[in-house]
Amino acid sequence: MTDLPQQPPTLTDGVVTLTQMSESDVEQLVVNCQDPAAVRWTTVPDPYDADAARWYLLEHAPEAWRAGTAFNWAVHDTDGHLLGTVELGRIRGTSADIGLNFGPHARGTGAALAACRLLMDYAFTTLGFTHLHWIAFDGNWASVKLSWKLGFGQPVFIPGYLEQRGEIRDCWLATIRATDSRELAYEWRVPASS
Ligand SMILES: CC(C)(COP(=O)(O)OP(=O)(O)OC[C@H]1O[C@@H](n2cnc3c(N)ncnc32)[C@H](O)[C@@H]1OP(=O)(O)O)[C@@H](O)C(=O)NCCC(=O)NCCS
Repeated sequence: MTDLPQQPPTLTDGVVTLTQMSESDVEQLVVNCQDPAAVRWTTVPDPYDADAARWYLLEHAPEAWRAGTAFNWAVHDTDGHLLGTVELGRIRGTSADIGLNFGPHARGTGAALAACRLLMDYAFTTLGFTHLHWIAFDGNWASVKLSWKLGFGQPVFIPGYLEQRGEIRDCWLATIRATDSRELAYEWRVPASS
């Protein structure tokens, strides 16, 4: 993998901007992480408060970046307001998982799609990742659908793949390679749970 910058570089398409997290993101991050969809579909702590947000934004994310264990960005709109967060995590050599959480105000706007495209470009082109994986808890069809829009392959069902707050959860796992085209890889339909 390429030499890493010491902090997240700013990546933008002129509409969404991936940037280093800061204190100004705390208030909206609390809203985003308290949202029922975030509690249901991610591993954010529950309950979630400003101290949890400060720890994630100001301690965990920068430390993980410096250690090379996870690469996290805040996603802002053109006014600098927090829409969500994106992460390359669970790094295994040149393979990593995409993690993301967008606030209710940002869903259905195309922001998550645009942010993931920027993240994937950077991961494949600059960081040298060869494979990215998308893992969604069974039933999180908004997430699986987003992976489909990004060109990930058909997801496979993996019973008991991840833990969420002490409980083992069934998951769908989709993959995209650096060499894949990013065209839609299959015809969309909600997968049949096993
Ligand atoms: C996952 C997430 C980033 C997707 O954001 P988004 O692309 O803006 O998408 P939305 O949440 O608006 O939903 C997108 C699509 O899923 C579809 N969808 C949502 N729930 C669905 C369901 N139960 N069955 C079928 N389709 C569903 C919507 O119809 C929509 O389709 P469209 O884009 O073709 O109109 C966002 O929903 C989010 O942050 N959720 C909370 C945290 C989370 O789940 N993170 C991902 C963990 S893997």
